[in-house]
Amino acid sequence: MVTIVFDEVNVFTFPHSRIKKLMNCCTSKFGHTDFTSLNDFEELLIGLQCIFTEFMAHEEIENHLVMKKLRKKLKQNSPMDDTELICNCHKVDRFTPLMALFRDGYAFIRRGNADRMSYGVRLHKAMITFYNDFVPHMNEEENGIQPLLSKYFTDIELKMMRTQVIKMTLKKREDSTVNIVYRIERPLKIHVLSYERILSIDSLPHNILQFIMNYLPDRQIKQSCLRVNKQWNQCASKVLKQRSPISQLPDEIVLRIFKLYLNPYDLFNSCIRVSKQWKYIIKDKTIWKTINPINWTRGQWNSNLPLEEIPVDQYKNRSLTMNENRIISGLVNYLLPNYGHSIENLILYGSLTINDNIARKIFDLCPNLKHLNIGMTKLTPKSFI
Ligand code: FEO
Repeated sequence: MVTIVFDEVNVFTFPHSRIKKLMNCCTSKFGHTDFTSLNDFEELLIGLQCIFTEFMAHEEIENHLVMKKLRKKLKQNSPMDDTELICNCHKVDRFTPLMALFRDGYAFIRRGNADRMSYGVRLHKAMITFYNDFVPHMNEEENGIQPLLSKYFTDIELKMMRTQVIKMTLKKREDSTVNIVYRIERPLKIHVLSYERILSIDSLPHNILQFIMNYLPDRQIKQSCLRVNKQWNQCASKVLKQRSPISQLPDEIVLRIFKLYLNPYDLFNSCIRVSKQWKYIIKDKTIWKTINPINWTRGQWNSNLPLEEIPVDQYKNRSLTMNENRIISGLVNYLLPNYGHSIENLILYGSLTINDNIARKIFDLCPNLKHLNIGMTKLTPKSFI
């Protein structure tokens, strides 16, 4: 007699439909892999490892949540063949040899195309054998074990069991490297996946994670690892810090270096982009106590002493004017709104372009100004209204 099992009490349908999808995914990956391409080959190995990790998790869930409970019931009141059916269900270890085969595959990355092709043939055979074994196994569970479950458990118990199985399956899928590993770059994948006992990348301790990240270039750490999760972000930041000893210097020392050896051009064009810490240090008011933006327009960034008036021809005069317009506009729109409160001494000596309106804007943005040099400019008392 055929037993009809409704889907809501069937503990196998949900995980098995996922497994069938993953199997299709494996087949299509295999079909699209060019074994002469290292990237393709490596992608395949990583994909297979991730997928089979999920299969292993499925078996674990079944053993823990279904078979164990069923076995207990059967022990009390069942004919011998039922117990045997259950006991033999997961007796064969289908996954360890396959996982070992996938790991062996990484050795072929450095070998020639012919070797990789022959490995591919071996892999294909192993996969076919697995499919031929696992598909009937799933059918056996759905058609042989599920009716048994229906016989020994009530509908409510089965519904609860199904819910637990679905919950665990989803959790394992979330924890699984499948979701996380693809966010990170190639070398890291190999290291992580070669770390055979670790099934969930989230469980890697900090020191191991840092050790792995040490193999990655800065670009990959910044683009990938920093964004995975909080733990990864902490480790990645530590690794980046260790690589750059200057970032370990105290702020006071960095500030002193900035003041002694760098000019506003270096600070604005380079240092401000290095890190948040440097951006913060550059805001220190002692750096901006005295400025001479007119010198900047003439390419003199290192000294605040007003330049002697140099007679210039008409062509040079025009280029100086253009340059000055550009720098003064940057000064008014960016530098002063951010740093104006730190400025105590302002030198505008010899400016060719500055007028009363601009001067008023500048003075407004420098509330703590104490000394002002406006010699050799066209400014009138209107600037100070
Ligand atoms: Fe559902 Fe035993 O695989």
